[in-house]
Amino acid sequence: MEIKIQSLNDIHEAAREFIKAMNNNAVFAFYGKMGAGKTTFIKALCEELGVTDMITSPTFAIVNEYRSEKTAELIYHFDFYRIKKLSEVYDMGYEDYFYSGALCLIEWPELVEELLPEDAKKVKIEEQADGSRIITLEL
Ligand SMILES: Nc1ncnc2c1ncn2[C@@H]1O[C@H](COP(=O)(O)OP(=O)(O)O)[C@@H](O)[C@H]1O
Ligand SMILES: [Mg+2]
Repeated sequence: MEIKIQSLNDIHEAAREFIKAMNNNAVFAFYGKMGAGKTTFIKALCEELGVTDMITSPTFAIVNEYRSEKTAELIYHFDFYRIKKLSEVYDMGYEDYFYSGALCLIEWPELVEELLPEDAKKVKIEEQADGSRIITLEL
């Protein structure tokens, strides 16, 4: 499915639409260039899911853990941009997150492609010439 985000004013509505399409899938891999809007969209998703204390930068680690105030469920947000070796990902215990059943939202999944669970869902974010974004969720 495709969701168009015309401007930042639409992002929460887009996030709600995305959440409806997530079903019971746990791992979502967000592909898109630097500046495409991955972090911004993940933040909107987390807010719609009831997270009130999201960290974005500059203290962001490879993984940050949030809790939904609505459902008390954990959400893991990964940013693999700065990893240099796959061993860093093994060392952080990625399997404990990816296979926990908790929602995992992943930026720069291409850097850990071979470690992604087989049922991870691919999400593509592309900035259009007019500044709008198109989100494509592979289901
Ligand atoms: N849907 C959107 N519409 C307009 N601007 C956006 C949108 N999403 C992100 N941006 C802007 O683009 C910039 C980069 O966004 P960011 O989420 O940090 O990208 P990424 O994580 O993909 O590198 C930010 O200044 C942000 O405000
Ligand atoms: Mg980002």
